[in-house]
Amino acid sequence: MSNNFAQESSAIKVTNLIKKVVTQEGELTILKGINMDVKQGDSVAILGPSGSGKSTLLGLLAALDTPTSGEILLDGASLSGLNEEQKAALRKQKVSFIFQSFMLVDTLTALENVMLPAELAGVNGAKEKAESMLKRVGLGHRLTHLPKQLSGGEQQRVAIARAFICEPKVLFADEPTGNLDSVNGDKIADMLFELNQESDTTLVLVTHDLQLAKRCKRQFIMDSGVLTEANKANTETEANAENSDNTAATVEVC
Ligand SMILES: Nc1ncnc2c1ncn2[C@@H]1O[C@H](COP(=O)(O)OP(=O)(O)OP(=O)(O)O)[C@@H](O)[C@H]1O
Ligand SMILES: [Mg+2]
Repeated sequence: MSNNFAQESSAIKVTNLIKKVVTQEGELTILKGINMDVKQGDSVAILGPSGSGKSTLLGLLAALDTPTSGEILLDGASLSGLNEEQKAALRKQKVSFIFQSFMLVDTLTALENVMLPAELAGVNGAKEKAESMLKRVGLGHRLTHLPKQLSGGEQQRVAIARAFICEPKVLFADEPTGNLDSVNGDKIADMLFELNQESDTTLVLVTHDLQLAKRCKRQFIMDSGVLTEANKANTETEANAENSDNTAATVEVC
């Protein structure tokens, strides 16, 4: 519900979030007490080495997973104690997610994949909107292709179009430009920030792309399950340290 406090309100407020899983080797603590407060309309980048817990955090924030302990408020609503149905309703109402592995529906065409959330939300003109969104991501010529008939970068752009179609309150994106060449990556980054500005959509981006991270208002570094906010000036140094074992990511940001 919009009110006079909208500018000040937290889109995401996280307190002492811990995620543990049980593995064959014993208990593994993936997230070790995360705190963050993201205001509505903020854009946030989360950088950090592979395996440090970034995707785990994103899944928890988007109510796709359940923490071991700690509290998450999403647009003021506590996720604690919600059952799966209530979480699904909250996601449908407020959240879009661009998955690291795209998660397109294999049996649906590009157009049908993008239409799906709009149809579920009862949006009028879902087909036309989906078509125009696919054109915006440069896939007007691939509407009837199935995911397996698309390249990795094309699948990623379908996933991005699908995430945009309902103009979510919060958009979570896990390496949204990870499979794209620099021209398409720039185009997608522009779209993300247009959505952020035009619709006041809060952006939470996990990325190894330093240029994309720098365009965000705030930058965080995840390291072995610990999240720290970085100054923009420090981001380059820390991200480069992060990328020291990741040549592809280092090349991408140069
Ligand atoms: N369900 C699970 N069971 C066991 N281990 C898990 C589980 N989920 C995640 N992990 C482990 O937790 C760590 C963090 O995983 P996560 O996917 O969050 O990393 P990430 O920072 O997103 O890495 P990347 O940059 O490679 O995508 C990894 O070491 C992973 O193997
Ligand atoms: Mg990940």
